[in-house]
Amino acid sequence: MTSPPLVDALVVAAGRGTRLKLADDSAPKQYLPLAGLPVLTWTLEALCACPDIHRVQVVIHADDHALYDEARMALSPDAAARLLPAVTGGDTRQASVRLGLEAMSSGRDDVRHVLIHDAARPFLPAEVVTRLVAALRAGDLAVLAALPVHDTLKRAGPDGFATGTVDRSGLWAAQTPQGFGLAEIVSAHRAALAAGETAFTDDTSLAEWAGLKVRLVEGAAETYKITTRADLDRARMDVDRFAATLNRNAPA
Ligand code: CTP
Ligand code: MG
Repeated sequence: MTSPPLVDALVVAAGRGTRLKLADDSAPKQYLPLAGLPVLTWTLEALCACPDIHRVQVVIHADDHALYDEARMALSPDAAARLLPAVTGGDTRQASVRLGLEAMSSGRDDVRHVLIHDAARPFLPAEVVTRLVAALRAGDLAVLAALPVHDTLKRAGPDGFATGTVDRSGLWAAQTPQGFGLAEIVSAHRAALAAGETAFTDDTSLAEWAGLKVRLVEGAAETYKITTRADLDRARMDVDRFAATLNRNAPA
């Protein structure tokens, strides 16, 4: 029996976290502690608890080597063994993803698919990864974890008054991970760079621009992104519950 083609993960952790600055000298959000471990450590443990994920490429900021080493040293041996050497990111998320993809794809003909994930989303359930990988293995080249929008959506004018209600039917909120054919997403990122398109905030938007069809699969409420102080407070409340699921799912 031949084994299925490999799936690697790319974790972008090169941002500065400007919306969540606790103090002028505080670390970027992906290195802040949750139950004593850096956010990035939780993110990497969650990905590495998924048997489908082979290697993990992390993209970091040039100023963060010491913080990254601390996060790496806190990993379980199994997770640490899957890390590729970290590479330096760019000024935008899009640039950081592209630089990570270029590093992880050179000379890796054995890897067919990649899941791209935000370091700032530490609570990733294994089922979401399973759904993404299943869609990729069934032939999709771009797959997005997303949640249906349940709130009523309003459009506001500059005066702060509602100008209308947006029909939410068929609307989904995009999360990460987002899964792709590795060669296809590398080509899409190169094409965006060549075309001067530098403002994509997620990779399925870039993939759509490049002509790939994006499949939606169900994400998870707990995979919210830590963006503000309130999100960090929420994550500090949620971490113990997530740690319990991680232990159950971790390989013996
Ligand atoms: N990211 C990155 N390189 C960048 C910008 C963002 O690798 N130049 C990463 C972040 O580290 C994060 C993810 O992309 O894990 C999502 O971005 P976001 O939540 O916007 O993080 P920051 O850009 O760090 O935060 P802010 O926008 O508040 O400055
Ligand atoms: Mg940002």
